[in-house]
Amino acid sequence: MIRAARPHEISLLPQIENVADERYVRFGLRCVLEMPPHGIASLDEGRQRDMLWVATSPRNRVVGFALMTLPGGTAWLDQLSVSPRWQERGLGAALIDRTARRARELGHDRLYLSTYLGVPWNAPFYERRGFASVPRGQWPLAFRLQFAIENSHGHPPWRRTIMQRRV
Ligand SMILES: CC(C)(COP(=O)(O)OP(=O)(O)OC[C@H]1O[C@@H](n2cnc3c(N)ncnc32)[C@H](O)[C@@H]1OP(=O)(O)O)[C@@H](O)C(=O)NCCC(=O)NCCS
Repeated sequence: MIRAARPHEISLLPQIENVADERYVRFGLRCVLEMPPHGIASLDEGRQRDMLWVATSPRNRVVGFALMTLPGGTAWLDQLSVSPRWQERGLGAALIDRTARRARELGHDRLYLSTYLGVPWNAPFYERRGFASVPRGQWPLAFRLQFAIENSHGHPPWRRTIMQRRV
């Protein structure tokens, strides 16, 4: 089930982000695992703005989350994470749909994100859900800034892309 995050659940999310990222290691991307997860303050800001959702198990345990932000006024899927045990059951796709719905409610016509090329659960996964890469020459200033911030955390920029889909 996908629903809005509750205040007492925020502290669970950085750990979910960390364990979800373990799957990058076998793709030569240990750097992702070594980056600090989202902090409590930015997650709670997302919750207060109704831009943070959790995926829950049948016992109502939080097993994943999605955070949307608005860099430069665009709807941006900032983080999507599902705990390893709960991956590949459709929760990631459902969190994307919930995020897209909120973007539409806020008056946006597109949802954007940055991700890894050639990692099966990144760009190919988003492509199968209607996302397409935005050519680098078309990136507005806000995206170039966003990309620079992410790269400063350690992402190798040549392996990354920015994607968009209509909402
Ligand atoms: C991305 C992520 C949230 C997806 O969550 P999920 O609940 O597993 O998502 P779904 O069950 O909806 O779909 C999983 C997809 O990944 C694909 N996938 C996962 N692992 C794969 C692998 N090793 N090889 C091939 N495909 C793989 C599945 O085929 C499936 O795509 P499909 O339904 O189009 O076939 C999860 O993999 C995760 O937390 N990853 C680490 C963090 C991350 O990469 N976040 C996104 C950053 S942009």
